[in-house]
Amino acid sequence: MKSFAWVAVLFLSIFVFSRRRPGSYLFKRDSPAFFYLHGDAESQCERKSAPDLKFCEDAAFWEIHEEATGSTRSDIIISCDPGRGEWNTVMGPLRDPGPHGVLWLLSAEKDAVPQRILKENYPPNHDFHPLGIAIWPSRGNSPSNLFVVNHARKRSVIEQFIISPKNPGVATHVRTISSAYLVSPNSIALTSPSSFYVSNDHLMTRRLPGGLGNVLPLLETFLTLPLGWVSHISLDPAAHTPILEHKFAAFGIPFANGVSISPSGSEIAIASSTTSEVRIYSRDPITNALTRTHTVPVPFCPDNLDYDAAGTLIASGHPHFPSLIKVKNDPANTKSPSWVVAINQTHNVETLFQSDGTYFSSSATGLRDATTGALVVSGLYESGVLVCRPAP
Ligand SMILES: *[C@@H]1O[C@H](CO)[C@@H](O)[C@H](O)[C@H]1NC(C)=O
Repeated sequence: MKSFAWVAVLFLSIFVFSRRRPGSYLFKRDSPAFFYLHGDAESQCERKSAPDLKFCEDAAFWEIHEEATGSTRSDIIISCDPGRGEWNTVMGPLRDPGPHGVLWLLSAEKDAVPQRILKENYPPNHDFHPLGIAIWPSRGNSPSNLFVVNHARKRSVIEQFIISPKNPGVATHVRTISSAYLVSPNSIALTSPSSFYVSNDHLMTRRLPGGLGNVLPLLETFLTLPLGWVSHISLDPAAHTPILEHKFAAFGIPFANGVSISPSGSEIAIASSTTSEVRIYSRDPITNALTRTHTVPVPFCPDNLDYDAAGTLIASGHPHFPSLIKVKNDPANTKSPSWVVAINQTHNVETLFQSDGTYFSSSATGLRDATTGALVVSGLYESGVLVCRPAP
């Protein structure tokens, strides 16, 4: 009975899926082994590796303003989970939540080596499966609030840490934010040191009991049901009673995935993975209400989004969904293609990086330093992260 339901769901889904977006990401398209817009990928791109630095979902710039010198540097924090092959609450499987994921720090310097960030004061017997991350800038060596979506064993929560430029190898745990509103949190965009937008990718999750978790989320995914959403959450900055206010900001988004806020704070971009769209909203900075203004189609299932400091939106994702499903079932032996684009202020889409998966697999995040042009790419089921620098 169970397998019949599965097959029925699969065929119905494939039918609906392929009709909605003919040929868009069910069928493999030609892709170069690798392409980098600003030079030869082989010489301009470098893989930053370390033992255990693999299966990375998100990456974020940590802006550190030094008051003494008036200078700013942007280090990179990366969320990785080597255990993703055994624990993935978005796509499955849910086998072993035991081994912890890891946050990494990569300094902006060219020869930098990734450094593991140790967790301090972390609750014992609490799992750690980091997905979306967001960090507030530091000024004059002040510590920064770091928020991490954590797909823990029983439910998904958000962990708050503080991390200081004086001791960047240690993140001190502050509190765990757990709420009935956090059904399937995925990505975070900060609006202050203690408030943020957060996407919920599914209404029906893998965690549903009694076999429902094996069928309903698939239906939601493949029928592109518009059941994802984005909320705005304000925390009590000091107290341990975390949520002060929760507001629904954007509804009806099929597979709401990456969220990013523009440098001016007036615009929010939300990825809808299964419709291959990036939705742009104008933001009321007082109420945090969102109004959709544009929809930008992209040639892949967009995963994470990041505005660079000049206001160009970098979108990354998965151009061949069936490959991604194969990879999640057998990460050691399979590859899934990667694609990263830049979406400029007039919504022109330009490819920055592409790979058929052999060079770099399953790109989840593209992060660009607007000053140097350096592009960081993380891969959901890939080892290391890629850093590409424009040819001189
Ligand atoms: C966006 O890109 C298009 C095509 O290259 C160009 O014509 C347009 O001027 C660009 N817009 C901005 C604001 O950069």
